[in-house]
Amino acid sequence: MTQPGRLAGRLVALGITGSIAAFKAVDLLRLFRAEGADVVVLMTPSATRFVAPLTLAALSRRPVDADVLDLLPDGRIGHVITADAADVVVVAPATAHWLGAMAHGLAADVVTATCLATSAPVVVGPAMDGDMYAHPATQANVRILRDDFGYRIVEPETGGLASGQVGIGRLAALERIVDAAVEAIGERPIRKPDPADRPPRLPDAGNLDRDADDLGGRHVVVTAGGTAEPIDPVRFIGNRSTGTMGVAVCEAARDRGARVTLVAGTLQVAIPAGVEVVRAETAAAMEAALAALVETPTGRAGFDALVMAAAVADFRPAAPVDHKIARTDAGLTLQLVPNPDILAGLGRRVRGLDETGAPGGRPILPRPVLVGFAAETGGLDRVAAKLRAKRVDLLVANDVGEPGSGFGTSTNRVTLFAADGEVNALPLLPKRSVADRILDRIVTLLDARDEPVQTGATATPGRTTS
Ligand SMILES: Cc1cc2nc3c(=O)[nH]c(=O)nc-3n(C[C@H](O)[C@H](O)[C@H](O)COP(=O)(O)O)c2cc1C
Repeated sequence: MTQPGRLAGRLVALGITGSIAAFKAVDLLRLFRAEGADVVVLMTPSATRFVAPLTLAALSRRPVDADVLDLLPDGRIGHVITADAADVVVVAPATAHWLGAMAHGLAADVVTATCLATSAPVVVGPAMDGDMYAHPATQANVRILRDDFGYRIVEPETGGLASGQVGIGRLAALERIVDAAVEAIGERPIRKPDPADRPPRLPDAGNLDRDADDLGGRHVVVTAGGTAEPIDPVRFIGNRSTGTMGVAVCEAARDRGARVTLVAGTLQVAIPAGVEVVRAETAAAMEAALAALVETPTGRAGFDALVMAAAVADFRPAAPVDHKIARTDAGLTLQLVPNPDILAGLGRRVRGLDETGAPGGRPILPRPVLVGFAAETGGLDRVAAKLRAKRVDLLVANDVGEPGSGFGTSTNRVTLFAADGEVNALPLLPKRSVADRILDRIVTLLDARDEPVQTGATATPGRTTS
């Protein structure tokens, strides 16, 4: 399974060759980006016939290097720069022809030339027809790459092939290739953290510019909507949240390059395209969903930032029943019990604190940025205290009693309360603009969090190497 941040700050050189599986390299690139990697794409001339360099340039935000005889726009020699800067070279899919060229050092294409010129680890994912893979020539070439060159071969899988045959030769599951790249890098320091030493990025333009991608490689989790706390199978206690604000945060984060998971409560707006969705319509379900997301099975942070925009019920019926409560003239008294404060719980958990706020466990690293919303009526006096009590990095407070603010509107007037004491009252803005202002703060906080890693100065546990 991919995990955000395992390749933070790394440069992955992704070499693509002329296999029918070349289209899968698009998803592979996205997985590397989701792990936090910077990616430069190298292609053989044949590969460019299978998948358009434009797609790969747009997704990697870098020009694709597909001609070994072309110089970079700034006059440098592309394959040498990439060879010197890459933390890993991943060739996937690798054709039979490319394996042969590589085994014999024939540097006629940029992928082979880069592999010859690099001291970075090389990971190779062969993909081809079963008979081609079984041929002694191919097998001998694979052996040379593995045994003589020390390349990691991610063996192809058995299954249906493009030829119509069933056999070995299908490109390995992309997650296996990502895992192999993570393992190959291991504990090595980042080779060239300075962007000036890396292959060039695309010139800033339109939605391909650096700002548009400032959450690239980050995993942002957003809760949105209201909750529905059951009274009986047909009735519930809900609230007026529509999910507009949380969905705006999802869309903005997605457009800025993040992998986005929407934890969806009761929504009255459409779920945006391009985000992963986890349904959670009660406070308890939302708490469970976030508990599952916050930490991976290996104990690392499962996301980089959480924006808790959902309006989670503070109370739920003490004893929901499994049959419809019949109408009576005597009326009905419901007893409500408090729901857990999910954000405060996460604020403690990521810091390794127990219920009382005392050290009692392992902190979650790298520590995710936590952002909460505080819907108040009649002023924002209580917000600073809430921020401290919940141990969040940012609280977005609004007075929902104000016209144009709050539930079901397309605008919002919010004040950002930051953990460092800064208070920033924003004007009445469209919710999408509010979302972008919140994400600006998240980007700053994440960059500060990862600063020592990016520069190679000091190691931040959990971010540097694994
Ligand atoms: C439709 C089609 C699919 C192909 N798929 C593969 C493949 O999956 N694996 C492979 O080794 N060769 C495949 N080939 C053959 C390669 O494209 C060919 O050997 C080419 O010269 C490889 O060039 P390269 O290794 O420089 O990229 C395919 C050819 C065609 C026409």
